[in-house]
Amino acid sequence: MRIIYWLFAVSVALFISGIGFVIAAARTARDAPAVEAPAIEPIASVAQIMNGITGPNASIVYNAVGTIINADGVTEIEPKNDEEWANVANAAIAVIESGNLLLIGDRALDTGEWVTMTKAMMERGQAVLKAAQAKDKDAVLETGGPLNETCDMCHAQYQRQ
Ligand code: HEC
Repeated sequence: MRIIYWLFAVSVALFISGIGFVIAAARTARDAPAVEAPAIEPIASVAQIMNGITGPNASIVYNAVGTIINADGVTEIEPKNDEEWANVANAAIAVIESGNLLLIGDRALDTGEWVTMTKAMMERGQAVLKAAQAKDKDAVLETGGPLNETCDMCHAQYQRQ
C-alpha cells in the first residue's frame, strides 16, 4: 500500500515537472530573439542611386511603350514577347526598390516630404509593375506618366542645380 502510494506520488511529480518543461520550452521559443538583421551600410550617394538604378530603370519603363512618327511612317513600340515584358516588370521593380534605398541612413533629407514623395514614387511604380505583369501596354502608358510626375515633384524641391 505504501509503495503504491509512493509510486503514485512519483508519477504525479513526473507529470507536473513534464508540464513545467513544456511551459519552459514554450517560453524560450517565445522570448528567443528573431534572427538579427545584418547591419546595413549605405554606399551610394543619392545622385549615384538616381544615375545607376532609378534613372536607367525608369527609362526602360518610359521607352517600353509608345508611338514613333517620322518620315518612315508610324511605328508602334511595345514589348514583343514574355522576355521583353519581364524586362519592363523588372525595371519597375528596380525603381520601386530604389525608393527603399532613398529612405536608408542619412539619404532621407527629412522625415516629411522626402518620405512622402519617395512613397508616392513607390506606389505609382507598383501600378506600372501591375500593368507590366498584366502585359497591358495601354496600362503601362497610363501609369508611366503619373510615375514620372513623382520624379519631377521631388526634383523640383530637392535637386541641387
Ligand atoms: C525623394 C526624392 C526623389 C525622387 C522621388 C526621385 N529623385 Fe531623382 N534625384 C533626387 C535628388 C535629390 C537628386 C539630385 C542628387 C544630387 O545631385 O546630389 C536627383 C537626381 C536625379 C538624376 C540626375 C542625377 C545627377 O547626376 O544629377 C536622375 C537621372 C534622376 N534623379 C532620376 C529620377 C527618376 C527617373 C525618378 C523617378 C522614377 C526620380 N529621380 C525620383 C531625388 C529624387
